[in-house]
Amino acid sequence: MSILVTGGAGYIGSHLCAELLEAGYDVVVADNFVNGNAESLRRVEEIAHRSLSVYRCDLLDSAGLRGIFENHRIEAVIHLAGLKAVGESVEEPLSYYRNNVAGTLSLLETMRRFEVRKLVFSSSATVYGSTASPPISEGFSLGVTNPYGRTKLVVEEILGDLHASDPRWSIALLRYFNPIGAHSSGRIGEDPCGVPSNLMPYITQVAIGQREELRIFGNDYPTLDGTGVRDYIHVVDLATGHLQALRKIVASRGIDAYNLGTGYGVSVLQLVKAFEKASGRQIPFRFVERRPGDVAASYADPSKAARELEWRATRGIDAMCLDAWRWQLGNPMGYAEMREGGQIIHENRIRHSVLAVSGVGEGSL
Ligand code: WQD
Repeated sequence: MSILVTGGAGYIGSHLCAELLEAGYDVVVADNFVNGNAESLRRVEEIAHRSLSVYRCDLLDSAGLRGIFENHRIEAVIHLAGLKAVGESVEEPLSYYRNNVAGTLSLLETMRRFEVRKLVFSSSATVYGSTASPPISEGFSLGVTNPYGRTKLVVEEILGDLHASDPRWSIALLRYFNPIGAHSSGRIGEDPCGVPSNLMPYITQVAIGQREELRIFGNDYPTLDGTGVRDYIHVVDLATGHLQALRKIVASRGIDAYNLGTGYGVSVLQLVKAFEKASGRQIPFRFVERRPGDVAASYADPSKAARELEWRATRGIDAMCLDAWRWQLGNPMGYAEMREGGQIIHENRIRHSVLAVSGVGEGSL
């Protein structure tokens, strides 16, 4: 039996695949490679010393999805695929609804066709909206302020209706706080496209000399030092939270939401200081206007996941900074391959045939 990971070539997905392989699962990845990078999966195989099956497949391609379910006995699905940039979602809402909502419907219909009813869904703390005062627990009211967050909330509600229509489904909704850091090997990590919108990849690019300085969005928030406070969680801790959720949905039925966070709030200035200590690099910064849509503080009450998933984050902010720095230092241009003379060639290492219109190409990287 295999675990299908949609979006497995992305930042969270690649770290999850490494943990799944190391835990002995057989892993199948479906990714359209819009955000993910095939090189990350090649390195996952290198880290885990095991191969995985990779399909270049967009969730909207129902024929391609059917091919995957025909080729593999899928026991459960961990659904990470989706667009995730808040700002972009405001400019391109239709693209976000098409990819994140319609794509999920296509996946669910295929799962139902093959009688696969176990699902872990990548949701987000964004569903709590801007009124939640931390520590935030799963029972808090939900409300969203941008199309990206709304796609997450809509999918959660779709999954609730699906379970109500057929209680044989077993679903875990994982609400991520702020994932940062990288695998301790330094071989996989966060590789944002273009200018990073998130704090940590921006910091690491300043540290490596790719960016001049960090702009800190607001220092007049009602927080300990005036800068935004967030619950940063190590991406490997996030991945192990998925494995615990997988064990739960395999063992039982129902639908439940879980916060994946540390329960600790860290300010922008505190993260900058921790990163400077870990990397030995100065991070020049200046304060600028608040970013629209930002909340002052957000951090989890992670006790439900501790109780019901027997999971807690174990890595602290220093490890997150050290691992993020190791990845960036070893991969100044992310997964792009540097060649002589500094020319960058994005080497797409997929060695298997790509999706044919009627069939599905499979192979290992
Ligand atoms: C963190 C803090 C910023 C960049 C977002 C999404 C959320 C989730 C995680 C997907 C804030 C400050 C940032 C910069 C800064 N993604 N900051 N300068 O906004 O908490 O959450 O990513 O699920 O859905 O909303 O994360 O890293 O963008 O910001 O000062 O250049 O860093 O104001 O206080 P955020 P972030």
